Amino acid sequence: MVLPGGLVDNKSTGQAAVEVEGLSVRFATEGGTVNALQQVSLKVAKGDFVSLLGPSGCGKSTLLRVVADLLQPSEGQVKVLGDLPAVARVRREFGFVFQEASLLPWRSALENVRLPMEVGKFSKHRATSRKPEELLELVGLSGFEKAYPRQLSGGMRQRVAIARALVANPTVLLMDEPFGALDEIQRDRLNVELLKIWQKTGITILFVTHSIAEAAFLSSRVVVMSPRPGRIKEVIDVPLPYPRNLELKDEPRFGQLTGRLRQLLAHE
Ligand SMILES: Nc1ncnc2c1ncn2[C@@H]1O[C@H](COP(=O)(O)OP(=O)(O)OP(=O)(O)O)[C@@H](O)[C@H]1O
Ligand SMILES: [Mg+2]
Repeated sequence: MVLPGGLVDNKSTGQAAVEVEGLSVRFATEGGTVNALQQVSLKVAKGDFVSLLGPSGCGKSTLLRVVADLLQPSEGQVKVLGDLPAVARVRREFGFVFQEASLLPWRSALENVRLPMEVGKFSKHRATSRKPEELLELVGLSGFEKAYPRQLSGGMRQRVAIARALVANPTVLLMDEPFGALDEIQRDRLNVELLKIWQKTGITILFVTHSIAEAAFLSSRVVVMSPRPGRIKEVIDVPLPYPRNLELKDEPRFGQLTGRLRQLLAHE
C-alpha cells in the first residue's frame, strides 16, 4: 500500500516473504561434523525489516546463504514467497549485498548497477526492473554515475552494491554485514539511508549483523541467535516507531532495548 508522500506501508500482510521450517545445516570437515544450524524456524513477513543478531560462528551467514539458494539444507525447508529458494532465485525475487561491495573495477558506478540486467535472461524472469540512474539517485549517488570503484569511498561502494541489488526490483533484500567494514560515522549514515530506501520501496529486508546497536536501530524484529549449534534464542519485536533518526540512539528506550539484547546474547 502506498501512503501519501510516496511512502510504502511496510506493515506485514498476507504471505510470508521468507519461511524457514526446522532448518538444520551440517558441514562435514576434517575435524568432524559442524552443526552450523540446528532446528531453526523463522517467518519473515512481507515488508518486515528483520535482523539476525549473534556472535561470530552462530550461523547467520549460513542461514542467509540457504535462503539465497547458495547452500542446501541438511534438514528442513526454506520458502521464499511460497517457493523453493531455487525458484525464487531464477525469478530474481531477492537481491544480495555482502560485506565487501565486490564491484567490477573496470566498470563505472552506473555500469556496475546495470550489470545484473546484462547477465542471464533478465527480462524473461523480471517484468519489472528499476532504472539504474534512478537507483543511484535513491542511494544518494547522483553525479557519480561515471566514477569508477577506485574513485569511491567504502561507503559509496556499498551504496553502489545496494543499488545493484535493487535493479531487478526484488521482493526481498538479503544483506550480510553490509556495513561491517565501515567506520561508525559512515555506518550511521548508511543505516539512515537504508531505512529511507526500505520505506520508499516497501522491500522486505533480512539483515545480518553482530552490532547490537545496528540491529536495534534498523529492525522491526531482531532474531537473537546463539552458537554451536546455531539456534534462535529469541525473537524480539522492536517497539520503536518509524521513521527513525539517529537521535533515537540517545533515548532511554533505545538503551533499554540494546541492554535487553546484550543480556540475551550474554547468557548461553
Ligand atoms: N563451508 C563450510 N564448511 C565447513 N564449515 C563451515 C562452512 N561454512 C560455515 N561453516 C561453519 O559453520 C558455522 C557457522 O558459520 P557462519 O559463517 O554461518 O557464521 P556467522 O554467524 O555468519 O559468523 P560471522 O559473524 O563470523 O560471519 C561456523 O562454525 C563455521 O565454521
Ligand atoms: Mg557471517
